[in-house]
Amino acid sequence: MCGIIGYIGGQDAAPILLKGLKKLEYRGYDSAGIAILGAGGLTVRKSRGAIKNLEEKIEAELAGGVLAASMGIGHTRWATHGEPSDVNSHPHTDVSGTIAVVHNGIIENHVRLKAWLQKHGVVFRSETDTEAVAHLIDLHYNGDLLQAVVEAIKRLEGSYALAVISRDDPDRIIAVRKESPLVIGKGGGENFIASDVPALLEYTRDVYYLLDREIAVLYRDKVEFYNGDGQSIEKNVAHVDWDAGAAEKDGYEHFMIKEINEQPKALTGALRARIQADTTDTGQDAQGAMPVKAINLQEIGFDSSWAKANRVVITACGTAWHAAVIGKYAFERYARIGTDVDIASEYRYRNPISNPQDIFIIISQSGETADTLAAMRMAKKSGARVIAITNVVGSTLAREADLVMYTWAGPEIAVASTKAFTTQLMCLYLIALQFGVLRDVLSGEELAQSIKALEDISGQAERILKDKETIQRFAARHFSKSKVFFMGRLFDYAVSLESALKLKEISYTHSEAFAAGELKHGPIALVDESTLVVAICTQTALFEKMESNIKEVKARDAATLVITYEDVNYFDQSADEVFRIPRLPDGLSPMLSIIPCQLYAYYCAVQRGLDPDKPRNLAKSVTVE
Ligand code: G6P
Repeated sequence: MCGIIGYIGGQDAAPILLKGLKKLEYRGYDSAGIAILGAGGLTVRKSRGAIKNLEEKIEAELAGGVLAASMGIGHTRWATHGEPSDVNSHPHTDVSGTIAVVHNGIIENHVRLKAWLQKHGVVFRSETDTEAVAHLIDLHYNGDLLQAVVEAIKRLEGSYALAVISRDDPDRIIAVRKESPLVIGKGGGENFIASDVPALLEYTRDVYYLLDREIAVLYRDKVEFYNGDGQSIEKNVAHVDWDAGAAEKDGYEHFMIKEINEQPKALTGALRARIQADTTDTGQDAQGAMPVKAINLQEIGFDSSWAKANRVVITACGTAWHAAVIGKYAFERYARIGTDVDIASEYRYRNPISNPQDIFIIISQSGETADTLAAMRMAKKSGARVIAITNVVGSTLAREADLVMYTWAGPEIAVASTKAFTTQLMCLYLIALQFGVLRDVLSGEELAQSIKALEDISGQAERILKDKETIQRFAARHFSKSKVFFMGRLFDYAVSLESALKLKEISYTHSEAFAAGELKHGPIALVDESTLVVAICTQTALFEKMESNIKEVKARDAATLVITYEDVNYFDQSADEVFRIPRLPDGLSPMLSIIPCQLYAYYCAVQRGLDPDKPRNLAKSVTVE
């Protein structure tokens, strides 16, 4: 977490830094700060809280031209070491205020470094791990900032993306990263640093992705690259063709509702080009009328050699882990292959049994989650092949995995993940179905029916979204409930997990998910008149079981909402309210049934007067453990 921005060029740096920080605010909003280097020397301004606090603080200075400078660095913080406060905000400086540093990540040996630096007479002002970096660079400074950074990073343990400037070495910014993201934007007569690409799109689409321990030295008219030992290296520029408008709010009140509404388009994006007329056939079905369709994952290199695997392991964190749970059900159902699902932060510290025949699927919207990357590296070490499902092109996960399947959801800005989740599901279903084909366990009929359903899903998602007022009204009635439980069976249980997470993340309502069969084994003790129970009922063979569960909670005075298919009247008598989604094969229902639950969480947050895009204590990208 934490967002970093840097600018060097011919324009006034401070407004560019502030604008960039606003684009990065989703990464952390405990505090913000900038350091600029101009005729007036090195000036640092920082403030606790949102970026607007910093803007207000420096408004007069900006207007008066006091902060005129054409280079600088900025930071928006998600606190790890030290409470959110002015003094703990970045940039941090050395004792004399000559060097300024912004940092994303955690310096794990900062306690030892601090003790060592104190022995050298350094007096610390903040409680952060970052301040040690500023002092360390200063201690190694011998007239060349690049060399000082090279020496300093040799002593750093942990993760870092750093941008460094010095009054004594003006006209260049040094940037370096290890396990925390950083991109360099190449402009004409100006260059940029940012934690992610959307923050740069207004200025340039030509970027360099820094790899671990690579250093970039930005001048106004060029960027030089070095390895961690300070030796010059060449890097290729990449061109980003994202739509800049996609990173803005497009008239929606919040990014989250915009992104919920983008799901029909995103689902089409994830499917597009992966369904094709079957080239192994004549292109005609038995009647010679319709072309036969097939899943084509050649694009990601998923061919018959992968079918030899006898186990799939899916690993992820947060919402992506919920996608993984659905993936398990899908792999078992469509490919008949044993599938284990692991939370990445658990997997990395277990002593897991894996073998080179396993296939690992690692899911991460950002492709930068620290625990997920660690699990991926362990999987690779075991000799297993790794497929990454990610949304961010050029992310660490994408670069290090054997195969990459992009979700193509477009930039996801709201902290609570929505369109990334449904597109992760689309990717998992495509792999599961294709696995079923390669393993010869999926009938042609079920494949054809599933492909047709996948193609219909985007339109069906649109129909659900047209009915969002129904959920909005329901949220208006129930948003103050102190407990909300989601329950379901099989795929519906996995959707319940994600629904409960959405609601707690952004509305701070105590919400839990239960496998409905577990209700009697404890959870029912919590049910009373202050409880709302949302029952997700799309597993047709289990409707009767679900109806019994709904009656059980109603008998204990809970309010009940059922989410089921539009052609099902089964629950009309037992539930207080029924929200209907279009019919699709039961196994594929999560891509639709989650949408009303996302909407419910969103409208509850709005009803409670909260900002759903910036939930307290959470960050979009968790790049530290
Ligand atoms: C954070 C975000 C979640 C996300 C999780 C995993 O906790 O707030 O929305 O699901 O990280 O992130 P990833 O980028 O790996 O999918």
